[in-house]
Amino acid sequence: MKIGIDRISFYTSNYFVDLQTLADARSVDVNKYYTGIGQEKMGIPPPDEDIVTMGASAAFRLQQDGELDDVELLLFATESGIDQSKAAGVYVHGLLEMNNRCRTVELKQACYSGTAALQLAIGFVARNPGKKALVIAGDVARYELGSPGEATQGCGAVAMLVSADPRLVEINPECGYYTEDVMDFWRPNYRSEALVDGKYSTMVYIHTLLESWKQYAGLTGLSLTDFDHFCYHIPFTKMAEKAHEKLCRKLKVELGKDQLHSLLEESLRYSRITGNCYSASMYVALASLLDTAAEDLTGKRIGFYSYGSGCVGEFFSGTVQPGYREVLYGNDHKKLLENRTELTYQQYEDIFNYGVPADGGEHVFPQYKTGPFRFSGISQHKREYETVV
Ligand code: HMG
Repeated sequence: MKIGIDRISFYTSNYFVDLQTLADARSVDVNKYYTGIGQEKMGIPPPDEDIVTMGASAAFRLQQDGELDDVELLLFATESGIDQSKAAGVYVHGLLEMNNRCRTVELKQACYSGTAALQLAIGFVARNPGKKALVIAGDVARYELGSPGEATQGCGAVAMLVSADPRLVEINPECGYYTEDVMDFWRPNYRSEALVDGKYSTMVYIHTLLESWKQYAGLTGLSLTDFDHFCYHIPFTKMAEKAHEKLCRKLKVELGKDQLHSLLEESLRYSRITGNCYSASMYVALASLLDTAAEDLTGKRIGFYSYGSGCVGEFFSGTVQPGYREVLYGNDHKKLLENRTELTYQQYEDIFNYGVPADGGEHVFPQYKTGPFRFSGISQHKREYETVV
């Protein structure tokens, strides 16, 4: 039985900062951002947007298309949790008026948790082939103002329907995975910005890729030339390109600039203008590849490398299914990305410093442009959400 991703829907904030604006504010040559790390814009969530509103907005299209009726498992992967006890997915379940017969839980392991959720969902469908799972991965990537990580900030969520006989991408069973206890990036409960040992994190990302690939290749006998495209976890697009170059060098596989471009470029397009979406990042890459590739991807094999600091990595593969183009949300994604509002530096800093009040008081948040749901305020220690459409 084939199991995999049946539909994929992406949502990001309606606001962004051009990295030219950030470069001017930090007195940095903008080419460090545009070329050095390969990023052009970063998505910034306004005060009335959080992982719940972004996750629900991503899944809203699926609900509108009647795709959530057979969902009995909702996994929400995030490292931007809003509550120590209640799962973000339960709020989403309520906002989307999903069936009560549903298991719902939140998963965490930095940017890797989206892949953990996908693999668990596949296991659920294998046992319940007539049922579906909804996997949501969503995050806000936030570093200190003026820190080296600042230009890689971003936000977004991806909602994926996981089923038997998937219409988009069959996920193949063999996987190489690797865990090692390291401190390359983390966020203690008392901080709203991540801490990171930047250069070290890029080294661990690559080490974990090599280890995951070694296992995967041992299990499958496949070589890098058996893949048509790759989707990497994308903290910044240059990281994915460098990692692939490194893997090829290690395996003595020849790789010219044009080849690298044709293997990766379409998967990098959305991330370059949204920034890091942590747990959602690699799936934003998949949506970008499926939506924007000019060639017909039917039957093509995609290699996936998922990485979450701390760290866990996984290499696996998927095969694009016939007719996949008919079930994409590419036009919606394009419209969303084209219609965003650019922020000035001062607007960015004001939003950054707004924060969610932690004083236990009553709060009503200013209304910005959001998707179908917004985080309207806090009352009696409870987050309140409202429907905008
Ligand atoms: P930095 O140290 O300020 O940057 O920040 P740099 O000085 O290394 O410059 C970056 C690149 O730009 C260099 O290229 C420069 O040469 C180049 P490289 O040597 O690497 O090839 N450059 C220029 N290019 C053209 N024109 C110029 C120019 N100036 C410089 N004028 C760093 C880089 C990655 C450290 C920073 O962005 C950072 O800390 N980011 C956050 C951490 C991160 O993203 N790590 C990635 C791996 S870990 C991961 O992916 C997990 C994560 O997503 C979290 C999770 O799992 O939850 C982060």
